[in-house]
Amino acid sequence: MTDYSIFIVDDEEVAREGVSLALNREYRVRSFESAEAAIDALEERVPDLVLMDIGLPGMSGVEALQAMKSRYPDIVVIMITAFEDVDTVIKAMRLGAFDYMVKPLKMETLLGNIKNALETIAMRKEIQGLHEKVLKENLPCFIGESNVVQDVMEVVKKVAASPDTPVLIVGETGTGKELIAKAIHYRSPLFKGPLVSMNCAAIPKELVESELFGYEKGAFSGADARGKQGLVEQAADGTLFMDEVGDLSMSAQAKLLRFLEDGEYYRVGGTRKRSVRPRVVSATNRGLPGMISDGNFREDLYFRLAVVKIEVPSLNERREDILLIAKHFLLEFNKKFGKSFNRISLPAETALKSHEWTGNVRELKNIMERAVLMGEGVELTPEHLNLRGRPPAAPATATASGEGAMPRLTADGVDFSALMASIERRYFTDALEMAGGNESRAAKLLGLSRDKFRYRRKKCLDDR
Ligand SMILES: Nc1ncnc2c1ncn2[C@@H]1O[C@H](COP(=O)(O)OP(=O)(O)OP(=O)(O)O)[C@@H](O)[C@H]1O
Ligand SMILES: [Mg+2]
Repeated sequence: MTDYSIFIVDDEEVAREGVSLALNREYRVRSFESAEAAIDALEERVPDLVLMDIGLPGMSGVEALQAMKSRYPDIVVIMITAFEDVDTVIKAMRLGAFDYMVKPLKMETLLGNIKNALETIAMRKEIQGLHEKVLKENLPCFIGESNVVQDVMEVVKKVAASPDTPVLIVGETGTGKELIAKAIHYRSPLFKGPLVSMNCAAIPKELVESELFGYEKGAFSGADARGKQGLVEQAADGTLFMDEVGDLSMSAQAKLLRFLEDGEYYRVGGTRKRSVRPRVVSATNRGLPGMISDGNFREDLYFRLAVVKIEVPSLNERREDILLIAKHFLLEFNKKFGKSFNRISLPAETALKSHEWTGNVRELKNIMERAVLMGEGVELTPEHLNLRGRPPAAPATATASGEGAMPRLTADGVDFSALMASIERRYFTDALEMAGGNESRAAKLLGLSRDKFRYRRKKCLDDR
């Protein structure tokens, strides 16, 4: 006897008894003369499977199916019909019937079909459970209750379900584009496949093609002697995330476009045509339409990438989310640094809500991290946040106590890596803020080249 329960709904006593007898030994069976009685019984317990006669007096089988599905969308119903009435069967399948069978029912077929159905359901449940687990482990939640964020998440849900559709995510720096790309991958049917990211801004121009498509052995000097798989191949059965896609050179754009058109490509130095079709999600914080009119981005590539375009609003455009996100980070960093902040003071709330966020959620995250790391107590104050006139004091010269100080090394030790990362993040955030979000100017403030700046900023601000 298995643990599965089955409802049989049939007005003919003989049919009901026959089926019931056949299934009794393996399953827990309850039978009903009418759809109404079966629907009432659902209140007590939803069975694993319902066998529903189509031709019932009173509420018809199809009406009952509809009623059951609207209350319990996951319910599994197999329709049983006396003759193959194609229209009714099609209607039932459209309404979400799992399968149908035609009377007279041969007991062997019946048992076989039911076993199949139950196995499919079990697998579906297992995959669903697995999916939920993968989501939980991989996806930091995208916090936000503002209407614009709700709209964005609605689109994310829809496009995730259709893995052939390329998606372009646009928005200012730090608005959560990468987080959204992750959400699209992990919510899609490809969630078990890899999510392969390529940061187009961090790869030297001459290496983009070999990174994307791989190379054959001996393709160029300095290349791995055995040849190498490209990112498109690694992303097969998964998602290829092309970050900072606006930074691709014109020649890389041409190659990418050719690949996107038919999924075909050659490795560098190779003659064999290969083919693969990962899901493609791209993101940029640069204005592609402007780049197109300046001749720096291909319009045809833009249309290929942006079949669905998701525009992530800046934090200044969704101020109602600021406190929610701040509290989320407060808890996160409490845990990370063993602190016990449990509220944000009113003046601190006001400061957060009225601050001009040039670095968006990333800036908010960094500010909360620093405030929690450096601060003590239970209430977060404007002094902890230090939003205005934050002196970019060099940590080496900071005093050992007071605002902005480095925690002193004690016998308990310090988390050196977290500390250094936090210092690095602070400078990058400050530089970006001083430069009004302009990366070239921010790079200059830190004495770095723009490429180095972007690369290190990505590393220190994103890889967490
Ligand atoms: N709504 C949100 N809820 C929680 N965390 C968020 C949210 N939005 C962004 N973050 C966090 O903020 C940081 C920056 O987000 P992300 O890297 O996705 O931004 P981005 O738009 O890709 O920025 P850039 O253009 O600079 O690459 C990440 O640590 C991310 O997890
Ligand atoms: Mg990003």
